[in-house]
Amino acid sequence: MRSGGTPLALGLALLGISGCDPVLEDRIAQLGPETPGVRPGPFHRPGQPCLACHGEGGRARPQLSVAGTVYRDPADTRPVDSAEVILIDATQARYTATTNCVGNFFVTPGDFAPVLPLWTTVRLGTFSIDMESAVHLNGDCASCHTDPLARASAGHVFLTDDPALIGTVPEARCN
Ligand code: HEC
Ligand code: HEC
Repeated sequence: MRSGGTPLALGLALLGISGCDPVLEDRIAQLGPETPGVRPGPFHRPGQPCLACHGEGGRARPQLSVAGTVYRDPADTRPVDSAEVILIDATQARYTATTNCVGNFFVTPGDFAPVLPLWTTVRLGTFSIDMESAVHLNGDCASCHTDPLARASAGHVFLTDDPALIGTVPEARCN
């Protein structure tokens, strides 16, 4: 498995450098167009893999090193506003990003260019939840955290799965 993976990864990296990676282009096309009425920016495409377009091989600017979307609980896609996403990389460097009113957070390489693996905790007030394992793949949370929960997917990122607490998470509202 491991030795078979190397040439593919190398091939993709080379294609990425040449700027025409058909796998990536396909993946981006599958995400579809912008939601009508939402301008490309901090509030667009919640839940989508931001780095597909904003990562190293992508063309959208700014380039992002880490990005994702935080939701209230495992069963619901209500976003969580003002949650802290605490990131700790392999060198113990630490950076805290904050979600906006659609639950999105994003980090540019200028802010923080983590050395993988990356450990993460999401926090809001007294709520705190760790990702138990480290993120080895890249900083694109939705590359694993997509719905529905399945063998190849961790489901969306959520703040709490404690039924007693779910109802107390503040409702996010964009003005
Ligand atoms: C399908 C591709 C795609 C995805 C996925 C995507 N974006 Fe974008 N994003 C764009 C494009 C295109 C622009 C417009 C700027 C440009 O063309 O470089 C943009 C612009 C932005 C900007 C800059 C706005 C400005 O005024 O400078 C931010 C911030 C941003 N996106 C954040 C995100 C976040 C966070 C996510 C994930 C939740 C995300 N994007 C997902 C394509 C994408
Ligand atoms: C390589 C796949 C992968 C990536 C990338 C990834 N995660 Fe996870 N995440 C998982 C898996 C699997 C779990 C469940 C097991 C665990 O906690 O380790 C999880 C669990 C979590 C949890 C615990 C609650 C929940 O939502 O399940 C949080 C919080 C979390 N991840 C946040 C993040 C954030 C923030 C990012 C991006 C910086 C991220 N993850 C990137 C795979 C991933």
